Amino acid sequence: MKSIPLPPCDHTPQPYAGPSAAEVLALRKEFLNPAIFHYYKQPVMIVEGKAQWLFDETGRRYLDGIGGIVTVSCGHCHPHVVAAADRQNHLLQHTTTIYLNPNLPLYARDLAAKFPGDLKVVYLVNSGSEANDLALLMARAYTGCYDLIALRNGYHGGSQSTMGLTSHSTWKFNVPHGFGVQYSVLPDLYRGPYGPDDPDAGRKYAEDVRSLVMFGSSGKLAGFIAESIQGVGGTVVYPDGYLRHAYAHVRAAGGLCIADEVQAGFGRTGTHYWGFETQGVVPDIVTLAKGIGNGAAMGAVVTTPKIAQALSTRIHFNTFGGNPVASAQARAVLEVIDREGLQANCLRVGQYLKDGFQRLAEKHSLIGDIRGLGLMLGLELVKDRRTKEPAKEECAQVFEACKDLGLLIGKGGLWGNTLRIKPPMIFSTSDADFMLAVLDEALASA
Ligand SMILES: Cc1ncc(COP(=O)(O)O)c(C=O)c1O
Repeated sequence: MKSIPLPPCDHTPQPYAGPSAAEVLALRKEFLNPAIFHYYKQPVMIVEGKAQWLFDETGRRYLDGIGGIVTVSCGHCHPHVVAAADRQNHLLQHTTTIYLNPNLPLYARDLAAKFPGDLKVVYLVNSGSEANDLALLMARAYTGCYDLIALRNGYHGGSQSTMGLTSHSTWKFNVPHGFGVQYSVLPDLYRGPYGPDDPDAGRKYAEDVRSLVMFGSSGKLAGFIAESIQGVGGTVVYPDGYLRHAYAHVRAAGGLCIADEVQAGFGRTGTHYWGFETQGVVPDIVTLAKGIGNGAAMGAVVTTPKIAQALSTRIHFNTFGGNPVASAQARAVLEVIDREGLQANCLRVGQYLKDGFQRLAEKHSLIGDIRGLGLMLGLELVKDRRTKEPAKEECAQVFEACKDLGLLIGKGGLWGNTLRIKPPMIFSTSDADFMLAVLDEALASA
């Protein structure tokens, strides 16, 4: 493969003096959970990050096309975010809601201002799994019902209850979970029975939600959960009208509609601040994490005052949720997204990338489908465009070749044949040019 020059960067990484990559790998093997995995045959060790750049222990620079798995929304070590966390770290690192501290309510106010309708009550937790767990509790406590509908191919977390919402064999242990959860047909325009040329596909796919209410529940639901765009499942964007019709069936059965915005939120889709807005719906409960804090361990649930009331019959307490440092950091993230116009950037650079992917598809028959919104994009690779046989091995090769050429991206979908592109939202068109040139070379080598 021919090497491709990285776009310029004026950051010089510090000399690294810690343990070698081999030593770190050995430490992981000896002391860490054996089920963690690493990307690449020869794992990459990352010791420093700046904006859209990552550096390994030798000072080698990589373009980050996945953002710490859709988490580094504003870019690595964004100065405004770092300064906010630093200031708070020197002032007071921790207190909980048993005392008053301004950071949590100020953040909650700023976050709530980003939501439409009555979505004005904020709960802060520590992860996406915890947020979905709480949303589940809320829906059941509010409705007094048990049954839930989730979507096939969805990912909602790794805790016991969120594993039950997840519908992806890769992520499910063979233990009891998912009580009361059923999985509706995935509205997948690429592989499902209704394709992009069917203007009524959204309504047709949503019929399965109605069918599950009728045949798989008492007729009453606690709720329905769906990612606004599926992330782990391989960037699956639903047809227009899907959530509108699905929500109508759920609400007719008394259920609440939960939007999992853990990956799609905070302007990443480009046209809207929240992914659910691209479907023209307003959920009853929204769950957030990942990009919320640019790396702070944080999650949130946003709902209406009426639904929140259902959780006030008991005390709700969370030791770290809304910790003053995390709240300060997350507030700085909201400011950066607004000040730097990152949502508009996602729209512009996302479209630029998509146009480039179309050109690559004319050249490389491995590309079966190009999908996504803004800077939440996916390329599904297939062996044959007619049979759509997943090109799992080829995808692994492309993935590996991208890394060798200096580009880090993600991989997903049930067969691991979808390249996931979700860089920090500051990504530029010259970064996109580099990514396209690397993918061109990597696809040619597979
Ligand atoms: C859509 C979605 N929801 C929930 C989660 C779980 O978040 P966490 O890993 O912070 O628990 C993830 C994680 O990948 C996710 O992608």
